[in-house]
Amino acid sequence: MSIIAQRLSAIKPSPTMAVTNLARELKAAGRDVIGLGAGEPDFDTPDNVKEAAIAAIRAGETKYTAVDGTPELKAAVAGKFRRENGLDYGSHEISVATGGKQIIYNALVATLDPGDEVVIPAPYWVSYPDMTLLAGGTPVFVTCPDQTGFKLRPEDLDAAITSRTKWLILNSPGNPTGAAYSEAELRELTDVLMRHPHVWLLSDDIYEHLVYDDFRFVTPLGVEPRLRARCLTMNGVAKAYAMTGWRIGYAGGPAELIKAMAKVQSQSTSNPCSISQAATVAALNGPQDFIAERTAIFRKRRDLVVDMLNRAPGLRCHRPEGAFYVYPSCAGTIGRRTPSGEILANSEDFARYLLEGEGVAAVHGTAFGMDPYLRISYATSTELLEEACRRIIRACEALD
Ligand SMILES: Cc1ncc(COP(=O)(O)O)c(C=O)c1O
Repeated sequence: MSIIAQRLSAIKPSPTMAVTNLARELKAAGRDVIGLGAGEPDFDTPDNVKEAAIAAIRAGETKYTAVDGTPELKAAVAGKFRRENGLDYGSHEISVATGGKQIIYNALVATLDPGDEVVIPAPYWVSYPDMTLLAGGTPVFVTCPDQTGFKLRPEDLDAAITSRTKWLILNSPGNPTGAAYSEAELRELTDVLMRHPHVWLLSDDIYEHLVYDDFRFVTPLGVEPRLRARCLTMNGVAKAYAMTGWRIGYAGGPAELIKAMAKVQSQSTSNPCSISQAATVAALNGPQDFIAERTAIFRKRRDLVVDMLNRAPGLRCHRPEGAFYVYPSCAGTIGRRTPSGEILANSEDFARYLLEGEGVAAVHGTAFGMDPYLRISYATSTELLEEACRRIIRACEALD
């Protein structure tokens, strides 16, 4: 009998981390590899945030804190929700955890009973289905084709809801496609939720600040305040503040849910790192103008990548509203022959061909629940992106 629990047999290790690690290993072995796999800004954490962390260490803020966040950080989160989203939460309605990932995990563990369903629009962030399974729930996927901009249609949401549906997870701007919902598009979805009062909404807003052109971000609860009693609005500092390693995520939601999430956290990890919490106070309360400067750089990179990828024979790339990913279709490369004679059967083959042949690491679409596509992260320097796209074009041109 195996020591490993049955429950784990359905779970995959994060494929995005696997690609990032493989690229790192190949680089360490001396290969010239450009990694486009990581969901991590290449910018540095702002200096005022670093200084706040150093000051916290010097001040002795190195002990356990309240399980789901210090009062100072909860106040800063409440301020952020009020200022940027028009949402009013008291400290008992706010949870802070070790990354946005832990917030979502806590929420699912705290709420799912066996057989409970979680509606997950596909393509999806790799962790939603596996976290749902780990928490004992059942993921229900709804396909959002690129013809609809990779966005969930209200009629498809309606059709996916059953009496066992507990959550809809919405992620806008989204990973892996960069698609973001306008206020009108969200309204159509919240209207469906208003007709199904037993369904809760988990809104993953972690890419909130990364939107381009004239797109205006709005969170679903800002569109439909009547969902307040069954909505968890989740966010974090990883992406907007370039703080992936600090591991702080947070959420606002009904007190009963927040309390249950704290219970899960109290018996697993306890408080998030005290120093990271102090740094996050500085991030949320400090100057915000660097975000717009960085977003302008990301927008230029998006345009560069979209324009170059659309020159690669066999690829077709949309121009997303936000985040730092594109999700080009590689359907035109499937069935073609590589210079070494291999026939590309799927996006996994194509991704391997790019890595082995041209030293470009991207994540194949099977990982995100829609194929044949490739996720390319443009959170890397403009020079490297240009070179990576040149290599991708060359690899596509070399196919027979
Ligand atoms: C859509 C989405 N949600 C949540 C997270 C979790 O972020 P973190 O745990 O680093 O705060 C990520 C990270 O990649 C993400 O892409």
